[in-house]
Amino acid sequence: MPNITFSSPMHKDKTVYAVAGSHKLTVLELAKENHIPIDFGCQNGECSTCLVKVTNLSNKGPMAGPLTDREIEVLKTSGKITQAQIDAMKLNDVITTEWRLACQMVLRDEDLLIEYPSK
Ligand code: FES
Repeated sequence: MPNITFSSPMHKDKTVYAVAGSHKLTVLELAKENHIPIDFGCQNGECSTCLVKVTNLSNKGPMAGPLTDREIEVLKTSGKITQAQIDAMKLNDVITTEWRLACQMVLRDEDLLIEYPSK
């Protein structure tokens, strides 16, 4: 089971255990289940309110589920991913940005540090 540590300058750090292998649970859903106050709006990958900075603590390869086209577009508009990073991500099938949308990022079996708010 992965350990997910939520960290914010405004709140005490909290580490929670995510159920591995669901392939559906998002960072935002896990945060809400555990009363972690990540800001959110649309919950549909459109507003970027739920922007978080993610660090993989497992060193197990690709970080979480892949970015959706909508997530890529919002991160690009927010200046959190460059076209070069997008191209490299698609070419090499690796995640090239530490910025994610909590409502879009699906958890995998890897320990993560999630920093919020990150704007
Ligand atoms: S809540 Fe709007 S993008 Fe995540």
